[in-house]
Amino acid sequence: MKIDYNQTIPNNVGLVDDRRLLRALEQWQPAFLRWWQQMGPVGSAAHEVYLRTAISVENDGWAHYGYVRMPDYRWGIFLAEPEVDRRIGFGQHIGQKVWTEVPGEYRAELRRLIVTQGDTEPASVEQQRELCRTCPSLYDLRNLFQVNVEEGRHLWAMVYLLHAYFGRDGREEADEMLVRHAGDPDKPRILEAFNEPTTDWLSFFMFTYFQDRDGKFQLAALAESGFDPLSRSCRFMLTEEAHHMFVGESGLLRVIQRSCELMRAHDTDDVRPFGGIDLATIQRFLNFHYSICLDLFGSERSTNAANYFSMGLKGRYHESRINDDHRLIGATIEVPRIADDRIEREFVETPRAMNFLLREDYARDSQRGVDRFNKLIREASVDFTLRLPHPAFNRRIGAFQGIRATPEGRVISEAEWQAKRDQWLPSAADHAFVRSLMVPVVEPGRMAGWIALPKRGIHGQKIDFAYVLFH
Ligand SMILES: [Fe+2]
Ligand SMILES: [Fe+2]
Repeated sequence: MKIDYNQTIPNNVGLVDDRRLLRALEQWQPAFLRWWQQMGPVGSAAHEVYLRTAISVENDGWAHYGYVRMPDYRWGIFLAEPEVDRRIGFGQHIGQKVWTEVPGEYRAELRRLIVTQGDTEPASVEQQRELCRTCPSLYDLRNLFQVNVEEGRHLWAMVYLLHAYFGRDGREEADEMLVRHAGDPDKPRILEAFNEPTTDWLSFFMFTYFQDRDGKFQLAALAESGFDPLSRSCRFMLTEEAHHMFVGESGLLRVIQRSCELMRAHDTDDVRPFGGIDLATIQRFLNFHYSICLDLFGSERSTNAANYFSMGLKGRYHESRINDDHRLIGATIEVPRIADDRIEREFVETPRAMNFLLREDYARDSQRGVDRFNKLIREASVDFTLRLPHPAFNRRIGAFQGIRATPEGRVISEAEWQAKRDQWLPSAADHAFVRSLMVPVVEPGRMAGWIALPKRGIHGQKIDFAYVLFH
């Protein structure tokens, strides 16, 4: 179905034919806009931003580009087209027709999955709201705003499901999405990594590299769902998520490139006096963001995750490409555990290890980009290798909580951890230094000194295009 832009809420779900649902969503819309004004990017209401807007859900050419004031952005409800005769692909209902309504016996589980995913979307907007004060270029500022409006749209995607399929308690959950706030001591966001403020652009690029990638894997697992509206929502969200990870990966590549240029020009590893971010600091930021994102996958062994799988609600990454029976009854797999302060492994039933499997896929995907960072460093003839830390490093959830480990995965004492922590994670001085570089650059085409030019502009525009007009 084509996206209908004549509606107050653009959509391709036939909202015009469901007056009750339309009215409910039209009541939620002003609350969303109030939230955007209060918790969205600071001081940005009048800016005109060169944004892409979804105009179709077809694979090619789904987006339109043009200047938009963000409060006027056409946030809407877009589901990927239904697949003909789609069948449940895993768990105890494998082979049955997918559900187009919520199966009564799985209502609570489905609502929980949707609420948990939905909560992360506005959380990231809140976490990033101060960054527009310190953009390294107009190009980057525009990318930040693009990510922000799309996370807002992802909230719409989940709120639509709550309103359309969960009745009164769905509407209440939708309201709560705008009541919890990132870092709020009384009403925090559900997942811990979504309560950390993102106060500098190195953290923003790490966030979009690691945390949005967690989003990709969660959405991919939910796209396998036997509840078809959730699957179709997530499939379209994934097309937007790809851009967020591009912002992260290309942003980090440009920071690293600039650091290498300064290292070569001044023949030193310490590029701080020359306004660059040294690779050792980049490694510490990477250690932090990667380790808190591993926590987002939950415990290696999880009964909830096993239930989601056997119920057919949340599958594995690329479930249909996996060559097994997709039921996994009696299958086992090794997962890590801690015994006597040593990292060991033990066998568990595979369905109980779903979080672990998704995390392993995430780790492989994360490594691919790090390989590209290292290729760039090698090509600059710099002797340094960025590494993902061991999964035992700096963890608060799962098998490794309660121990201390080095980035290489050696279990150490609390005293050794305290003595070396600042070698491995950003110190107060690192944060202060990175923050000191965050001076806004808003002339078209100019970049802050700590980051290289992007390879190309957006949607065929030049790099010095005025991506944001200030009013
Ligand atoms: Fe998102
Ligand atoms: Fe995202």
